[in-house]
Amino acid sequence: MNYSIAVVPGDGIGPEVTAPALEVLDAFGDAYGIVFKYVELEAGGKAIDSTGEPLPKETLETAKQCDALLLGAVGGPRWETLPGRLRPERALLGLRAGLGVFANLRPAVLLPQLRSACPVKDEALIAGNSEGKPGFDLLIVRELTGGIYFGERGRSADGNSAWDTETYSRAEIERVLRTGFAAAASRRKKLCVVDKANVLESSRLWREVAQEAAKDHPDIETSYLYVDNAAMQLIRAPGQFDVIVTSNLFGDILSDEASVLTGSIGMLASASLGSPTDPLAKNGRPMGMYEPIHGSAPDIAGQDIANPLAAILSTAMLLRYSFGLEKEAAAVEAAVNAVLDAGLRTRDIASRGSGGATEKIVGTKAMGEAVLKALETAPAAI
Ligand code: IPM
Ligand code: MG
Repeated sequence: MNYSIAVVPGDGIGPEVTAPALEVLDAFGDAYGIVFKYVELEAGGKAIDSTGEPLPKETLETAKQCDALLLGAVGGPRWETLPGRLRPERALLGLRAGLGVFANLRPAVLLPQLRSACPVKDEALIAGNSEGKPGFDLLIVRELTGGIYFGERGRSADGNSAWDTETYSRAEIERVLRTGFAAAASRRKKLCVVDKANVLESSRLWREVAQEAAKDHPDIETSYLYVDNAAMQLIRAPGQFDVIVTSNLFGDILSDEASVLTGSIGMLASASLGSPTDPLAKNGRPMGMYEPIHGSAPDIAGQDIANPLAAILSTAMLLRYSFGLEKEAAAVEAAVNAVLDAGLRTRDIASRGSGGATEKIVGTKAMGEAVLKALETAPAAI
């Protein structure tokens, strides 16, 4: 088997966390005769420095030809004073829109090993959890190519007022809901639509479309929450959630909130998927873009302290969604679990309270190597 993967290591800690993620992929390649061909591309700050624009045309065009895209992170203080359309973040938006990856899956799970890195009390972690044990396992499905991120924006002639608009079409809402319902069907069969339908017209359309779609999914328990309440419920009782489907902006905010509950934003992977019937779909599978959600963290870049696990877990999602390699994806997840079981921690996921004695703080490279070793020493899992 031969797969081509576009790789954008990007800025800040991006290259440091991408390197071990690619080594993990190679471990599968070597063991099972799968050839992953990497096509390294520039986007974000690095591309601004070398070409003057955040998303060179060639990067997008080449990414479209590949089977999937793996991205580290883009952005940094160096480019913060540039005007909006020239900022590194534009590269992300351009890739998302250009590749048509409208459904962003952001799983947030509390791994028992990281319990002490999670800032909320047992009481909250038990509330709403049907198993009565502290924990949660939720999936945020964030709409990624519409809404206020892509709506009309501008400034008045005198510069004293500005606007951004939230626009959603029925079709855009329907397709991301479809992804959400499919995910819920393979999980605990609960779906919560998060909106602000008490105020926003676009949210009222979301709710209308969701209520219609829910009729086609009687096996899924569908509920609705206003985003302010959802933000509160996530802290009060995260275990009540299975799948959350929401707009681009609300999903951006809620997924950062959820990441803190998992112990660290350094643990959260993401997959952004298009439609399996889109022209960019490969072998009947949707186009996919995979990235850790943590961003470029320029303050810790180059120090070998960043957590590579979110990037590594993003490759697990890549194997699963772009290549259908479910067993291999599960093996990567098991390897991550094993290194955490062994007590290895990057700084961000080290214990806040008791339990520190059994932990060993390691750097980015050592963490990556430990995951590789766990993969290699457990070939049966693969
Ligand atoms: C994310 C990030 C991006 C977003 C930024 C960097 C543009 O926060 O992927 O969540 O807002 O989508
Ligand atoms: Mg964000």
